[in-house]
Amino acid sequence: MRGLFLTLEGIDGAGKSSHIDALAVLFKAQGRTVTRTREPGGTPLAETLRGLILEQPMDALTESLLVFAARRDHVLKVIEPALARGDVVLCDRFTDATFAYQGAGRGFDTTVLSTLERWVQGGRADLGGASSAGNALLQPDITLWFDLAPAIAAERLAGARVPDKFESQPVEFFRRVAAGYAERAAGAERFVRIDASQARDQVWQQIEAALFDRGLIARSTGASI
Ligand code: TYD
Repeated sequence: MRGLFLTLEGIDGAGKSSHIDALAVLFKAQGRTVTRTREPGGTPLAETLRGLILEQPMDALTESLLVFAARRDHVLKVIEPALARGDVVLCDRFTDATFAYQGAGRGFDTTVLSTLERWVQGGRADLGGASSAGNALLQPDITLWFDLAPAIAAERLAGARVPDKFESQPVEFFRRVAAGYAERAAGAERFVRIDASQARDQVWQQIEAALFDRGLIARSTGASI
């Protein structure tokens, strides 16, 4: 059985990361093995690149190349092997974030991003091929998109911690990022829009309902956050 690749996306402050623990509990309760991971990151090399990406000023092409370099290592060493084992892979951000942040947020050329996406997720044997995907583009099976107005997200983030390079961007940047997510979501059925303005337990109920509706969990387990 091939595994399930689930990603969580949304602008900074939308609250996605706070639901990963509960998702892991939920899938384990269904008898699944769970691999939890994140981007940029998920391997020692990719975590090293994450530190550079989140802290160092750089042009948008450099940033995109580093994000996809980290992703390549992560796909080959963690994501593909876990999916081949039949795991549920819970990944905090993936390529949609690159289209939203580097593409829409920074205004970088999305045709270049699409090319990098094909190289990194295309499984081509001549590029050292990802293990089980053949030539098909590796994409999440389901993407939980935490949609929240940028002004509210900024309020939630304010004072929460020392902001990184992206978190310290002005609200206009996040308006573009949010629009980028909306555009990406409109083009793919795998997206589930979660209204992240609701209270936390209501957000969780939306998540459970979406997974149940798509046949990804057998029933609600009553697992809570
Ligand atoms: P995030 O996932 O929000 O982690 P944390 O909750 O620890 O801050 O932070 C990752 C940041 O990296 C976020 O601001 C978005 C950015 N990012 C990109 O710009 N491009 C990408 O492709 C990815 C995966 C993330």
